[in-house]
Amino acid sequence: MRLLFYTEDSSVAWLEDMLSKIGVEIVQCNERNINKRLNEVEGIFLELNGLTDRLTKEIKEMRSNTNRFILVAIPYNEEWLEILADLGVDDVIFKPINPCELIGVIEHMILVRRFHEAKMCRMMKQISIVRLQQREIARYMKEEENLVCELETLRKEKEVLAQELLAVVSKVIELKDYEIHTHTQRVGRISALIAEKMGSSQVFVELLEKAAPLHDMGKVFVPEAILLKRGKLTDEEFEIMKLHTIFGYELLKGSRSPVLSLAAEVSLYHHERWNGKGYPHGLKGDEIPLSAQIVAVADSLDAMVSHRPYKAKKSFDEAAEEIRNLSGISYSPDVVEAFTGVIDEIRELYDWELKRDGIISNSNHHRKGGTRRGENKGHESHRRTRW
Ligand SMILES: [Fe+2]
Ligand SMILES: [Fe+2]
Repeated sequence: MRLLFYTEDSSVAWLEDMLSKIGVEIVQCNERNINKRLNEVEGIFLELNGLTDRLTKEIKEMRSNTNRFILVAIPYNEEWLEILADLGVDDVIFKPINPCELIGVIEHMILVRRFHEAKMCRMMKQISIVRLQQREIARYMKEEENLVCELETLRKEKEVLAQELLAVVSKVIELKDYEIHTHTQRVGRISALIAEKMGSSQVFVELLEKAAPLHDMGKVFVPEAILLKRGKLTDEEFEIMKLHTIFGYELLKGSRSPVLSLAAEVSLYHHERWNGKGYPHGLKGDEIPLSAQIVAVADSLDAMVSHRPYKAKKSFDEAAEEIRNLSGISYSPDVVEAFTGVIDEIRELYDWELKRDGIISNSNHHRKGGTRRGENKGHESHRRTRW
């Protein structure tokens, strides 16, 4: 250990010998360099004959410059004792110096210093451990953030893939028959409007809007001779036509995609009727899944107002009236009530499409309905729907 030693007494050479015996090396200083050599030592020993203003100033400066311990040997004086305490010196011994007392005090101070150093070292270790942990936590958080981003990207890619798959499926239907494609898209939108009106969750509404257009998917397996036949189907042909519900279900079932699962359900049950006279299973009332109850109304409405080779086209108001008349017979009363609640929005949907195609110039025109030249003016019974 190195001790900065300032003395006002030239007869203390014995002190250096004595301190060297306990492993203390003395670094001598004078008035001019007392505050400049602080960094060279671990403690300061001031051997004074009294306390002058100049010395007080030096000690004050020393205290503010270093955390080294400061030991003062001075003749006994109550006033000086108080001043030294105020200045923050660590210990005071009184002159004449008792060598044993001096060694005891210095050894104690060395121990205290070692103890503080060890404590400081431990603290620094703990701080570096905490900093390391903070860095690790920050790294984990960053990694988690990246994972969340990657998951979000994957989710979006999956969504795009699902949408593209649905677009491909729609294209298949479109290639089969354009009229059927526009029909399926409208059925999706109308079903969503009804489901929303019924207070269904947003998730269900969005799923149904995507799933409902696939309700006639099974028709791709029905021969065109039957699908596009003008006029009434024979009983045998109608039995084949009815199979489009099962074909669609078989095609779409078992998927992990919520849209395709719902589409399978809708496909199978959208021709079931509230009174149990529908197909393929003759389910009654709430035995029919809600999705299919809704799509049944949307599908029937759109088929009634659309041109088909085998039936007359109704006006929107006529079709809506027929849906209302068949509430509790073919269709769920709750679904028909919701349908009536959103009738204006559904009507707008058709007006928009007719305007787009340049068929009408105002929103009321199409309500007059009518048939194309050469079309069959009769219409099929709701019990024998082909849509
Ligand atoms: Fe349909
Ligand atoms: Fe159908």
